[in-house]
Amino acid sequence: MKRNTIIGKDINKAATFLREGELVAIPTETVYGLAGNALSRSSVVKIFEAKQRPQFDPLIVHTHSASEVEKYADVTPQILKWIEKLSPGPITYILPKKDVIPDLVTSGHKTVGIRIPRHKQTLKLLRELEFPLAAPSANPFGYVSPTQASHVLDQLNGKLPYILDGGKASVGIESTIIDLSAEEPTVLRLGGFELSELEEAMGIKLTNIKLSSSQPNAPGMLHSHYAPKVKLVKGSVSEVREQYPNAKLGALRYTEYTHLIPTEDQLLLSANGDLNEAAQKLFQRLRQLDSTDWEVVAVEFVPDYGLGKAINDRLTRATHQP
Ligand code: TXA
Ligand code: MG
Repeated sequence: MKRNTIIGKDINKAATFLREGELVAIPTETVYGLAGNALSRSSVVKIFEAKQRPQFDPLIVHTHSASEVEKYADVTPQILKWIEKLSPGPITYILPKKDVIPDLVTSGHKTVGIRIPRHKQTLKLLRELEFPLAAPSANPFGYVSPTQASHVLDQLNGKLPYILDGGKASVGIESTIIDLSAEEPTVLRLGGFELSELEEAMGIKLTNIKLSSSQPNAPGMLHSHYAPKVKLVKGSVSEVREQYPNAKLGALRYTEYTHLIPTEDQLLLSANGDLNEAAQKLFQRLRQLDSTDWEVVAVEFVPDYGLGKAINDRLTRATHQP
């Protein structure tokens, strides 16, 4: 059913819709989420439908504090200490799930992804609610994640009644996913929480990194993801020009314009060469590409350390040709 989608800042209104089993887009520091009552099967079904997300791809459950996590997952004292230390923040913990979480949320997996987002309004909303929120990124499956309320409206207008406006996402790329259900902590997705900082906070080395692109680890990590509609090709402007001599060429670059094509045919991720800024702007820039008349975009990768690794991971998927 088509309906009007409203953007607003009213936490009570958001809570009312969610209690009625409706979906609400929520701001987080990483990206906006498409949220519904995680304990209600019918709300969770609505999420998969609105996103056109395959049911094999599990959802993350959002809550407001470490002590709440124990209601939904089994945690050892050591893991609870880690969660207390790392939360709230751009990180998702994969943990053995408890029965209250419907199998639909976890796509039948025995584990559940739990996240405590670092965003004032959303934490307030989560504290007000009697249930946690299941929320994937609020974009149609396979497209670029939204980092501001208008992005959600552009793509999901009519599919939910309310978007809680919490401004632009401060981190801008999705959470780092760490699997704590296995013998040894394993990183399943690079994201907003830098690995070196994570290692320092946890007091261990994270040598297990499995950025799988198929089941069963993180089924959402498909090769082709975050893909705008325009064709993106990894490489310098001259390399891509050689491959596509007749195409109208644009460029997505890190800090500097190239003189090889007009400046107006280029977008920068961070003129200051700041990886935090590049992460914050990444998805907005990818969206902007779809409103240009460029036929092919030469995509320059960023330095491959810290947040740069997570950015390059997204750029790899965005440039992947299915
Ligand atoms: O920053 C974020 O994590 C955002 C905000 C809204 O919190 N959410 C987000 O959700 O990125 P989504 O659904 O777009 O990505 C969740 C990823 C998927 O790759 C999914 O496969 C993985 O988490 N995931 C969820 N539950 C899992 C589980 N039990 N085991 C392994 N991977 C899981
Ligand atoms: Mg997503």
